[in-house]
Parts: sequence; C-alpha cells; structure tokens
Amino acid sequence: MIVILYAHPYPDRSRANRALLRSVEDLPYVSVRSLYDLYPDFAIDVEAEQRALADASAVVLQHPMYWYSVPGLLKLWFDKVLARGWAYGDGGDALADKRCLWVTTTGAPESGFSPEGMHGHSFHAFVPAIEQTVRFCKMRWEEPLVLHGAHRVDDERIAELARSYRARLEALAGATGGAP
Ligand SMILES: Cc1cc2nc3c(=O)[nH]c(=O)nc-3n(C[C@H](O)[C@H](O)[C@H](O)COP(=O)(O)O)c2cc1C
Repeated sequence: MIVILYAHPYPDRSRANRALLRSVEDLPYVSVRSLYDLYPDFAIDVEAEQRALADASAVVLQHPMYWYSVPGLLKLWFDKVLARGWAYGDGGDALADKRCLWVTTTGAPESGFSPEGMHGHSFHAFVPAIEQTVRFCKMRWEEPLVLHGAHRVDDERIAELARSYRARLEALAGATGGAP
C-alpha cells in the first residue's frame, strides 16, 4: 500500500495538485489521506494517522510549496504524528525502511529559484529540511517530483508530470511488492 498524504489548504481551487492527484488516485494500491478534508479544525487524530501508515510500504508527501516549506497542517502532522518512540528515538521504528516520495508544486518558475531570482536560492536549498525529516524517521528518500510555475505552465506540462507521477508510483509499488 502507498499512502499519499495530500495537504492542499484549498483543494477546490487547485489546478496543479488536483490534476496530479487525479492521475494516481485510481491505482488500486494507493490510499489518499486528504489532510485538510480530514482535519478542517486541525485536530489531527494521531492514532488514526499512525495506524494508516503501519502497513504502508511507501509514503508520498504531496502539497503546494508554502513559504519554502509545507502547508501548516502538514507541518502540524509532522509535529504530532512523527512522535518519539514511534517514528524516531528508542523503539521508534514504525516508518523504518518505508520509501518516501516528496511531490510538490511551486508558483515560481524554475528560474525564480536562483541567486538572481525572486526566491534568492536554488530550489535545492529548500529541500534539506524535508529530506532530513524523512531520513530522521529512517525512511528512504526518493528523488522528489517537482512542478515549477504551477500557475503558468500549460496543461501538457502538467499532464507530463502526471504521467511521471503515475510511473513513479507504479515503480514504487513494484519495488515494494505492493502491486497487485
Ligand atoms: C501562503 C502561500 C505561500 C506560498 N509560498 C510559495 C513559495 O514559497 N514559493 C513558491 O514558488 N510558491 C509559493 N506559493 C505558490 C504556491 O506554491 C502555488 O500557488 C501552488 O503550487 C499552485 O498549486 P495548485 O494549483 O495545486 O494550487 C505560495 C502560495 C501561498 C498561498
């Protein structure tokens, strides 16, 4: 089973993430947890979240980039669900060896992520906090899937990313024995 933790604060207004999610949600071994739909009041059910991940062989973090990071509810999910003794520390092996794929979209085009661009740094500068969160929990970090310029790219570019996303999940399922 591949669990997608989907964190879009305004799912009805999404262009890019909605299209990406639609391209994979019918895969029989994929389970989507749309965090903003599950927890509109931010009252995360930690036990339910931990249970949902127990049998997963892979975890996907999918969201629009917000302030160089994850939207607030996904950050709260990290704070609450990735608990000591469960995700890290003594006995904290619940996520060990699961593969983790980060799928994110940015408003800025790729050129915006450079010393001269509006975001002042390469996109790679914003990756380590997410990557190390994953690695600290002993998960296996996969090469991220990133769509830049989410508002401006044409539909074909989004469709291309969607095909890559589906192929990545199919490969993950194959690699982890999750495919039917
Ligand atoms: C509060 C907020 C913060 C954002 N921060 C960033 C950012 O740091 N870098 C960036 O490139 N885009 C940023 N954006 C733009 C979103 O990433 C963009 O709207 C989203 O990727 C589009 O995907 P969607 O069509 O699924 O909504 C931000 C948008 C909002 C509303």
